[in-house]
Amino acid sequence: MSLDTFIAGLPKAELHLHIEGSLEPELMFELARRNGVAIPYDSVEAVRAAYDFSNLQDFLDIYYAGAAVLLTRQDFEDLAFAYFQRAAADNVRHAEIFFDPQTHTDRGVPFGAVVEGLIAGMDRAKAELEVSSGLILSFLRHLTEEEAFATLEMARPWLHHFIGVGLDSSEMGHPPSKFQRVFAAARDLGLKLCAHAGEEGPPAYVHEALDLLKIDRMDHGNRSMEDEALIARLAAEQMTLTVCPLSNLKLCVVDDLRHHPVPEMLRRGLHVTLNSDDPAYFGGYVNENYRQLAEAVGLTREQIVQMARNSFEGSFLPNEAKAGYLAELDAYVR
Ligand code: ADE
Ligand code: ZN
Repeated sequence: MSLDTFIAGLPKAELHLHIEGSLEPELMFELARRNGVAIPYDSVEAVRAAYDFSNLQDFLDIYYAGAAVLLTRQDFEDLAFAYFQRAAADNVRHAEIFFDPQTHTDRGVPFGAVVEGLIAGMDRAKAELEVSSGLILSFLRHLTEEEAFATLEMARPWLHHFIGVGLDSSEMGHPPSKFQRVFAAARDLGLKLCAHAGEEGPPAYVHEALDLLKIDRMDHGNRSMEDEALIARLAAEQMTLTVCPLSNLKLCVVDDLRHHPVPEMLRRGLHVTLNSDDPAYFGGYVNENYRQLAEAVGLTREQIVQMARNSFEGSFLPNEAKAGYLAELDAYVR
């Protein structure tokens, strides 16, 4: 069996996926038409041609503009179900997905339309595709902590639908310390905590995410590799890192996939997982991330299995559900 075929059939979880980043240009056009929203492109090809980024902010400007076509509960259901169809095709058995409520509520879209649409898509994924999932409410770090608190307050009637909170958007100049109090409040509500850290930001931001936010899982974490003490700590704590190779390439976090830090992370004993981040913008869903990274750095079958195993272990599923998926993985490997 070729390595590509092995990856394709491998049961895996996806732990770092922004649902707004799974909006394919075809669906963007369909929703623009359905909702009468003008978009600054005249074809699907023109949209794809615009996806040429030199850093995170470049991408975020286009990503927030694209989200403007999402208005109704049905739009969010369609968006989510389209992602789960792609995920199921990659044998993703479980996905923990981020959404950015502020991107929508700040445009006047009701919080309930966003959440109820996403939940409907997730319920359909479970029933029709047998993919389980959880929803993570992500705060936009370029906005204030006060606005994050207002978002958490707005989320209250739907809190039972969320497994955790996250922190995303423009990293530089917006350190984790800015959100220390709202993360403490989320923890008191029983939510799990994730934060993007060390994607563009320095190792000091990774330290802050651990020490001040007290995160349960770290998104990206690439720049941790510049700090020996941090590497040792992440290994000792077995902190799960949700690494996104194609995102790193497209946002110039790495200059070439052959220089990606994953092999060194694995050698140093870090609990690494592979994920797609914003697959509609970065040119590949999760299997494409495994495949292209494997080809670029020469991953072994054992390393690939280890990262799939890490994806279930690092999920926020109850132990019993984790054990079920891990047994599925073991059966496949045997
Ligand atoms: N929002 C969507 N994708 C993101 C990324 N890779 N980093 C920060 N914010 C994001
Ligand atoms: Zn991300």
